[in-house]
Amino acid sequence: MNTEFRESLFQQAKEWILEAGAKIREQMQTPLIIHTKSNPQDLVTTVDKEIERFLAGKIRDTYPEHALISEEGYGDELSTLKGTVWLIDPIDGTTNFIHQRRNFAISAGIYQNGIGEIGLIYDVMSDVLYSAKRGEGAYRNDERLPMLRKDFSLETSVLALNNKWLIENPLVQIETMENLVRNVRATRTYGSAALEFAYVAEGIVDGYMTIRLSPWDVAAGIILVQEVGGVTTDIDGNPLNLLKNNSVVTCNQALQQTLVHEVLKSGRK
Ligand code: IPD
Ligand code: CA
Ligand code: CA
Repeated sequence: MNTEFRESLFQQAKEWILEAGAKIREQMQTPLIIHTKSNPQDLVTTVDKEIERFLAGKIRDTYPEHALISEEGYGDELSTLKGTVWLIDPIDGTTNFIHQRRNFAISAGIYQNGIGEIGLIYDVMSDVLYSAKRGEGAYRNDERLPMLRKDFSLETSVLALNNKWLIENPLVQIETMENLVRNVRATRTYGSAALEFAYVAEGIVDGYMTIRLSPWDVAAGIILVQEVGGVTTDIDGNPLNLLKNNSVVTCNQALQQTLVHEVLKSGRK
């Protein structure tokens, strides 16, 4: 993607996302209308839908040739990532949005022919925007994030993970996960995949792993983590496929070797 176009796209996307965040804060002044989707743990509100509709409308009006992959039904059914594709989660962490009224984010990744060019993750209630452009570093608001340290070991790491790892799952033996939880310094579960990616990029957690994430959960985060020297793969160490759901490990490179190629490999079903 041409650098000049990418800069204008970045500025435009940032403006819309900040506007969307303000709309969310405004809509939180009135009672939320909540629905369940596939099961009682899978929640959506009219705000999720409204924000996606707002962002989809802006993209389609301004960049009619761009495509959109998104959670709440305003996106396209794509079988390829050719061209410019936006991947958007209007509210990542809907359960937090409903129960805590904080700790949720708007996530937007922009890809060109499958290559991540722009990543934006907006922590709406803290008013913190994590952003990245390919090859130009990652930022927390206006502050450039340092490259991740390379001298990590599991024993000194804080790992964000979804506790679904600790119930019977098709991917990894429970005992392996129990040992992992025992061996790391601490574990955390924040309930917003996008924020968990942002925290890896910021270096306040050293890795994040979860079983089943959608493309819109990870698209922006992958770019942020990459820009600070981290790496994102599935649990076998393969690149993620942004046209389907993936198991995900994102972390600094030192940890990736141990986590993916030793720990998870040894417990793989
Ligand atoms: C969810 C959150 C959660 C993760 C789930 C996602 P949503 O997204 O990111 O942390 O564990 O897998 O589906 O539904 O709140 O957009
Ligand atoms: Ca999500
Ligand atoms: Ca969502």
